[in-house]
Amino acid sequence: MNGKVIVTGGTGYIGSHTAVELITAGFEVVIIDNLYNSDISVLDGIRSITGVTPKFYDYDLCDSQKLEEVFGAEGKVDAIIHFAAYKAVGESVRKPLEYYRNNLTSLMNLLEAMERHNTTALVFSSSCTVYGQPDTLPVTESSPVKDAASPYGYTKQAGEVIIRDTMASRPGQKAISLRYFNPIGAHPTAFIGELPRGVPENLVPYITQTAIGLREELKVFGTDYDTPDGSCIRDYLHVVDLAKAHVVALKRLLGGENKANYEVFNLGMGKGVSVLEAIAAFGKATGVRLNYSVTGRRAGDIEKIWADPSLANRELGWKAGISIEEAMETAWRWENKLKNKKS
Ligand code: UD1
Repeated sequence: MNGKVIVTGGTGYIGSHTAVELITAGFEVVIIDNLYNSDISVLDGIRSITGVTPKFYDYDLCDSQKLEEVFGAEGKVDAIIHFAAYKAVGESVRKPLEYYRNNLTSLMNLLEAMERHNTTALVFSSSCTVYGQPDTLPVTESSPVKDAASPYGYTKQAGEVIIRDTMASRPGQKAISLRYFNPIGAHPTAFIGELPRGVPENLVPYITQTAIGLREELKVFGTDYDTPDGSCIRDYLHVVDLAKAHVVALKRLLGGENKANYEVFNLGMGKGVSVLEAIAAFGKATGVRLNYSVTGRRAGDIEKIWADPSLANRELGWKAGISIEEAMETAWRWENKLKNKKS
């Protein structure tokens, strides 16, 4: 056993894949999740892969009393990985206060509980959204943090600042923010994957739902960008590669290998892929022809962004290695599994 880790949002998409990797690496995982954007059946998926059902609390992190209960019941907690947050960009524009309240109150409650209960390590789920549209590509961690373009993005920027300042005031504690580029795909066993609520906002679940017949056609949001094929460019990485980065970040903190008590890492493949190339990768990986058409730009979209992941490669010894075709194939396997479950 490598220690006890609270995983907030552990039944969510990235949280559940990380819980699997943590359990596999010998950690005891305790999940707190209010199931706002996830399903309790995810625990069965985690058990099917690992043989372990993590301890689960159906609690809202905005309720600090509930958080006290968890720490009271669990005793010594070595670390926290904080995923739980609202994450829909468009919704955040319509409901900014809900986003600020939820994403920031939960984080501040956790930071206070960490101090009260002497939990010394935190890994924070951040996003490349903090860079806005960068002036130079690929983006390194020292690229300037720019206008985030949405309240969701600002909650990630503010979250990072809150953690940085809190760590600066607490010599015994340490944290790492992981700036994810675009996580896609599902666990190769198809026991867990992405479970979007309602109509998906993100590209890959929209692709797989269209291919399986749940949506009529995929709309490509603009082919008039200043990119080789005119569609937007992102850095897509497989969710299992991403999950593994959390385990190495945690080990770095717990093993005292961190070089500062607050560190930031980009997590991406280091390769830009356009929307049209992503569609082609899906076709190549699955043999399924996708119904799609081009429509206008989506408000708030960044034209192009991809990571320079060399700091994470060097310092964490982590590298995303799963190709976009493999990622598409796992996403497709998962979509089919969901269909079979329903029918
Ligand atoms: C967005 C956020 C990111 C956040 C992530 C979490 C922005 C700029 N970024 O990522 O910060 O962490 O969501 O949910 O908002 N696309 C289509 N048709 C579709 C869906 C998407 O063409 O039906 C295109 C988009 O225009 C974009 C690409 O696919 O170019 C990826 O979109 P998406 O999966 O939504 O991710 P981001 O917008 O990059």
